[in-house]
Amino acid sequence: MEYTIKKGIEEEPVLILLHGTGGNENSLMDVGKALNDQATLIGIRGKTLENGYPRFFNRLEEGIFDEEDLEARAIELHEFILTLVKENQLDLADVVLVGYSNGANIGVRLLLDYPESYQKAVLFHPMYPVVVDDKTDLSQTHIFATMGEQDPIVTVFESYRVMELLKDRGAEIIEEWTKNHQLTFLEVERAKKWLNE
Ligand code: MLT
Repeated sequence: MEYTIKKGIEEEPVLILLHGTGGNENSLMDVGKALNDQATLIGIRGKTLENGYPRFFNRLEEGIFDEEDLEARAIELHEFILTLVKENQLDLADVVLVGYSNGANIGVRLLLDYPESYQKAVLFHPMYPVVVDDKTDLSQTHIFATMGEQDPIVTVFESYRVMELLKDRGAEIIEEWTKNHQLTFLEVERAKKWLNE
């Protein structure tokens, strides 16, 4: 997978930056710097393409995920993160997933599938319109999430649905509501405050 890395200070977090549809490994680097300029930042590019726009997994249409692809891509991304952590002598315990939109959505999948590996995440405007039967224990998972009151991509119903999915499994979530799907300076500031608490 394509990625970019900016090494930080050892005791600081390792932010795994997962872009939205049409982004790339560099899209969230400035957001990462704004969240913590001493952190190690790793931006990863999603491997699938939708009309030339990178994503982390395919969708059948807007709001309908290709669940088979999502499953396979989550495994691939997890293995890639583990390799990067090892190769760069980082500590998995320091990893924080930071995803926006499609990147937040695959972030949700990683939280659900690998609760022992990922226990902290910043999810900007996620959705997860998938029926999940497993009752994974997420009681060690801490999340900061933002949702838009008038988001044309993620409806309020879908915002509540993804939050309930995570909360039902015991995750601790700090929620912030914004206007729409756009990632704003203010929500990055709030996420920064949460990360540094
Ligand atoms: C998705 O497909 O992951 C969501 O619709 C968000 C997005 O448009 O990327």
